[in-house]
Amino acid sequence: MAFFQKKADIQVDMDHLPQHIAIIMDGNGRWAKKRGLPRTAGHAAGSETFRTVATFAKDIGLQYLTVYAFSTENWKRPPEEVAAIMNLLEKYLHEAIDRMARDKVKMAFFGDLTPLTPKLQALCHETEEISKGYDGCQVNICLNYGGRDEIMRAAQAYAQACVEGRADPHHLTQEQFGNWLYSAGVPDPDLIIRPSGELRISNFLLWQCAYAEFYYTDVLWPDFTKEELLKAIASYQNRSRRYGGI
Ligand code: FPP
Repeated sequence: MAFFQKKADIQVDMDHLPQHIAIIMDGNGRWAKKRGLPRTAGHAAGSETFRTVATFAKDIGLQYLTVYAFSTENWKRPPEEVAAIMNLLEKYLHEAIDRMARDKVKMAFFGDLTPLTPKLQALCHETEEISKGYDGCQVNICLNYGGRDEIMRAAQAYAQACVEGRADPHHLTQEQFGNWLYSAGVPDPDLIIRPSGELRISNFLLWQCAYAEFYYTDVLWPDFTKEELLKAIASYQNRSRRYGGI
């Protein structure tokens, strides 16, 4: 068993990592406010944290990392803030394209990308296209994503397939329904992390979180470190998952 032990209080069994970790990257605004900075500075710091955490996740051999970058409700924020988040995403995707051949990280997007600028949509499709053959770590970015919206769209598409005779509702299974979701083919998250002290799910992966373990911490997302990720994994490894059994 390979153990990672950076500090005496974090002990992680690297041979039994969760397969899929999902993160609600929360607390950027409060991080900025504490420093007398504009909220956009918090998002810029949060996107640096995302880089660090995604790189670390790849390096330790995590198979799937999903992050909540922009929800279907985040359009209610001031336009400057929305634009700043979109710009950070654009910047990140440009960099990701440059590094892809080296890093071999597979990128995917969960959400309806059509309201995004054509440039950002093109970058999303390009990163997905370039990396679709990679089989190492997969990073899913939830963008204009909402769990209810995802389930509703899946139900609409499925109902349409039934009307057209391509699907039979009497034979629908949970596995099959999962294939109509943005996350088709991706195993459910084992561990969902929410920093910043909020104890909500906020419309994140509602279908997929059925048996996820939750980890909450007061640390704000821009202050989240590799050690914080290891702490979350260590906490996960100390739980007993029973999936409704005994
Ligand atoms: C929530 O914190 C954070 C967001 C809505 C945006 C997250 C976006 C990024 C980290 C940057 C871009 C992402 C990538 C993948 C490069 P909040 O603003 O609600 O914080 P608060 O609750 O403290 O106000």
